[in-house]
Amino acid sequence: MNHGIILAPMEGLVDAPLRDILTRIGGIDRCVSEFIRVTEGQLNIGSIRRIVPESLQDWKTATGVPVHPQLLGSDPRWLGHNAALLAELGAPAVDLNFGCPAKTVNRHRGGATLLREPDTLYHIVAAVRAALPAQIPVTAKMRLGYSDTSQTLDCASALAAAGAAEIAVHARTKMDGYKPPAHWEWLARVREAVKVPVIANGDVTDVADYQRIRQVSGCQQVMIGRGLVARPDLGRSIQLMQQGAAAQAMTWAELQPWLVDFYSQVRSRVADRHAPGRLKQWLGFLARNYPEAQVLFDQVRRQTCADTLQTRLASEIAAAA
Ligand SMILES: Cc1cc2nc3c(=O)[nH]c(=O)nc-3n(C[C@H](O)[C@H](O)[C@H](O)COP(=O)(O)O)c2cc1C
Repeated sequence: MNHGIILAPMEGLVDAPLRDILTRIGGIDRCVSEFIRVTEGQLNIGSIRRIVPESLQDWKTATGVPVHPQLLGSDPRWLGHNAALLAELGAPAVDLNFGCPAKTVNRHRGGATLLREPDTLYHIVAAVRAALPAQIPVTAKMRLGYSDTSQTLDCASALAAAGAAEIAVHARTKMDGYKPPAHWEWLARVREAVKVPVIANGDVTDVADYQRIRQVSGCQQVMIGRGLVARPDLGRSIQLMQQGAAAQAMTWAELQPWLVDFYSQVRSRVADRHAPGRLKQWLGFLARNYPEAQVLFDQVRRQTCADTLQTRLASEIAAAA
């Protein structure tokens, strides 16, 4: 599983349509799905298929990039049971979320709150490891801690000791939220504390950030979330840089057909009242790098009609052509 660039799991932001678009643009070696919440009981197969429709095509995007499902929960038995179910459905690996800062998730003892309990982390990963066939890896994603870094290394060691094959680390505590900077120097400390590969994550927004996070952390693999949403060709640019080739940044005109494709995929999946929000959300991220996305965003901000928005997008393209 030695892939270089991993598209981060992002619930409510990176779903199957965006995974499809971003992996077709290129430079992404693997995706992790949005979290699938496990409470008590077996997951509904329909919800697994809805969250990870790639599960119907051998857990790969259209361009063949593997998608690993992510589970979130705190009950070792039910997490194990549902991980085994994912394996039966052909999942190539199962990732566990120990980083989610959401209040409702944490109240139910899921996500980042477990970073205060390294023993619980150990029990969860061990139960999932035991429930999965030997050839299916269990991986974990953590933050540096809940309120501070006093237990970072204990948590990472517990995950590795219990059988996590890789650990992705978002270099912030739960209390840090998304406040910059991410503490990349901690990634090196985690890497030195465990024998399994550590995946560096947090605030990589361009090729220079990628080079720096690799250098500071010493990690081979880098997970990128918002940076890829805001700069869809970031993975491709990194790949070209690694091959010693110069990358031409994707222009707004080149990006537009992808926006149209994305929006039509979204419309085939969600109700009309939800579709405009999804497009505006992506435009909001793209505006960080494309002033034209901000202009379009401002123009369609109040547009709630899915059809009108589609027409508006088509005319934007016609105007740019
Ligand atoms: C909207 C949003 C949703 C997220 N959902 C998940 C999730 O489902 N599972 C998870 O492990 N992390 C989730 N994360 C955290 C990201 O995977 C990642 O760790 C974080 O955004 C930092 O990386 P970045 O700076 O490259 O975006 C989410 C982050 C955002 C902004």
